[in-house]
Amino acid sequence: MPANQHRLPRFTSDGPWRWWWRQLSQRELTIATAAAAIVFFLLVLSPFPKTSRTFGGTNVITSEADSEWVPFTPLSKAQQNSAFCLDGSLPGYHLKRGFGSGSDSWLIHVEGGGWCSNITSCSDRKKTKLGSSTYMDKQDQFLGILSHHPVQNPDFFNWNKVKVRYCDGSSFSSRPDTEFHNGTELFFRGQLIWDTLMDELLTIGMSKARQALLTGCSAGGLAILIHCDDFRDLLPKDTDVKCLADAGFFPNEKDIVGNHSIESFYHDVVHLQGIAKSLNHDCVARSDEPSKEFIGNIKTPVFLVQPAYDFWQIENIYVPKSSDPQGSWRKCRLNIFNCNSNQLEVLHGYRNSLLRTLDGFQNKPKWGMFINSCFIHCQTWAAGTWHSPTSPRINNKTVAETVGDWYFERESAIRVDCPFPCNPTCYNKDLSAG
Ligand SMILES: *[C@@H]1O[C@H](CO)[C@@H](O)[C@H](O)[C@H]1NC(C)=O
Ligand SMILES: *[C@@H]1O[C@H](CO)[C@@H](O)[C@H](O)[C@H]1NC(C)=O
Ligand SMILES: *[C@@H]1O[C@H](CO)[C@@H](O)[C@H](O)[C@H]1NC(C)=O
Ligand SMILES: *[C@@H]1O[C@H](CO)[C@@H](O)[C@H](O)[C@H]1NC(C)=O
Repeated sequence: MPANQHRLPRFTSDGPWRWWWRQLSQRELTIATAAAAIVFFLLVLSPFPKTSRTFGGTNVITSEADSEWVPFTPLSKAQQNSAFCLDGSLPGYHLKRGFGSGSDSWLIHVEGGGWCSNITSCSDRKKTKLGSSTYMDKQDQFLGILSHHPVQNPDFFNWNKVKVRYCDGSSFSSRPDTEFHNGTELFFRGQLIWDTLMDELLTIGMSKARQALLTGCSAGGLAILIHCDDFRDLLPKDTDVKCLADAGFFPNEKDIVGNHSIESFYHDVVHLQGIAKSLNHDCVARSDEPSKEFIGNIKTPVFLVQPAYDFWQIENIYVPKSSDPQGSWRKCRLNIFNCNSNQLEVLHGYRNSLLRTLDGFQNKPKWGMFINSCFIHCQTWAAGTWHSPTSPRINNKTVAETVGDWYFERESAIRVDCPFPCNPTCYNKDLSAG
């Protein structure tokens, strides 16, 4: 069945966001809360191994000696502010100081890792690094957009860099109001963690930033879209502030059998974690097109890095297991080269829908995008997909080069790929390889 047969109502320039908002407003949810909820589907804790990977036969990730291991720092005021991970442990970040001309520039990267939508899944998450700092690695490797090597990261290598750890299960948006107190101890402190983190970063030097870039992958990408304008407002007026969401745009689409799988998911997350209340102030009642309040009306310049065949979205939004009881998509979901022509047709339909949506953002001043046709999810924090001789390119530009062109306004940075499998530079994930 071609995707268009189960397409949502014709998208306007804001596409599914507007549509999505209407659906949600019927449920009296805010767009932001709903948006945040999308990320919840990120059941894949970490789609990339941290070890070196092979791209096109060449090992392009730098060796251990070249990479930088950066220690974990707990938020110093977390206890005082009751800003806890899901399990009550203290959240934190990894900081690598900038140097030279980058000393007054700050790049914040928020890690991803989905959401939890019910007591069972949040309680399970408490026993992982995505719900508790007890299980986090005490050091993290800074690669790709976090690398301090100019070869790997030409424009941002000498900036101050912060990798923010994610342990609240809500894209830094939950509020304690809906915490459960009858036996299950779960802390919904995402917004408090965010506020405490921002205070700390300002204190340790970010308040003097001349340039700042707020970035994040997946659930972290959605977090930065949610917090982008607030972040901008924290910094001096003349600071150059921009936001980059990597695989953080989650369309509200029906799945292949026409079920509203992802939407019902949003609903659960928003209700469980009190998010509606948390984000109302951002977007409620400002217009009759609230979807614009969320992404279209972000005032700060935004860049979207988004694969048009995002494997996480295929696995969780378009073809969730529940929509494929016969298992006819099983191989295709794991490796795009296993898709037959009918399945590819469906996936092209989802791509077309994404492009229609993004059309509405192309003329926003100082916005940019890199929409490649690869089967991948998150491309900024691995050296092999961010910037290397074999990394994915559009018009011969890597993600890193395009982001640099956008941030420094060197040239127009709207780069959109031709449909799969036209681009030989793609890195396509093989999930069946384990
Ligand atoms: C809780 O969420 C998980 C993950 O989405 C889901 O698999 C599970 O069925 C849910 N459990 C309940 C009781 O709803
Ligand atoms: C208490 O737990 C039950 C399930 O065990 C849940 O349905 C209910 O919402 C909880 N109430 C509060 C106030 O946490
Ligand atoms: C759609 O979702 C409902 C609720 O999860 C489920 O019962 C139903 O089987 C699904 N329909 C199909 C065709 O998968
Ligand atoms: C692509 O860019 C590289 C530099 O990044 C350059 O050396 C090469 O000549 C370019 N190729 C084409 C076909 O323009």
